[in-house]
Amino acid sequence: MGQGTLGVGALADVPPEPITVAPPLSAADHRWLAELWCAEWGGLVMATRGVAHRLEAADALIARRGGVYAGAAAFLTDPGDGGCELLSLNAVAPGLGAGTALLSAVEAAARDRGCRRVWLVTGNDNVDALRFYQRRGYRLVAVHPGAIDAARRLKSTIPLVGQHGIPLHDEVELAKGL
Ligand SMILES: CC(C)(COP(=O)(O)OP(=O)(O)OC[C@H]1O[C@@H](n2cnc3c(N)ncnc32)[C@H](O)[C@@H]1OP(=O)(O)O)[C@@H](O)C(=O)NCCC(=O)NCCS
Repeated sequence: MGQGTLGVGALADVPPEPITVAPPLSAADHRWLAELWCAEWGGLVMATRGVAHRLEAADALIARRGGVYAGAAAFLTDPGDGGCELLSLNAVAPGLGAGTALLSAVEAAARDRGCRRVWLVTGNDNVDALRFYQRRGYRLVAVHPGAIDAARRLKSTIPLVGQHGIPLHDEVELAKGL
């Protein structure tokens, strides 16, 4: 899950251009988001910290490169507790800057809405994401042993074995102050 491969061919055909980030506007944008989420996360529900969230109900941002979809983020802001949960972040093709641009845009949106921190959970298998977030100022704030095993009971598409053949059991929580 979360290999970031949807539409790689189309993106590779596009000449290098700056990444732009904007909320989804058209019906086509919403259709593409749903396809991305189903392909990358096994459905439209994300189970984090024992709570099931519907991705279509969250705020979303789409990255484009030369007008071609390059990635997407979904997030929930709660100005009440000052937190913004990053529910999902995907680059269509890795290493082109879409992830960084989306993460910055989520942080800016959270700040605008009065949030003081962005947090997220990722799987114990996702060592690439742990590198990515820590390089961008995020700290490991908790490990939730068995949380993915519990989430699998809410969402049966979560695999037993994740990236690099690592058995998938635990959520790692990261956060960054704004
Ligand atoms: C994690 C993820 C969102 C990062 O997005 P991205 O667009 O690849 O990120 P960027 O291009 O902005 O930066 C990637 C980093 O990897 C490096 N990189 C270069 N080529 C790369 C490649 N082929 N593959 C992966 N990373 C590469 C970049 O130089 C950069 O390094 P840095 O951290 O030293 O700056 C993306 O890889 C992804 O979609 N992963 C799968 C889904 C996922 O796990 N999401 C996170 C959990 S919610």
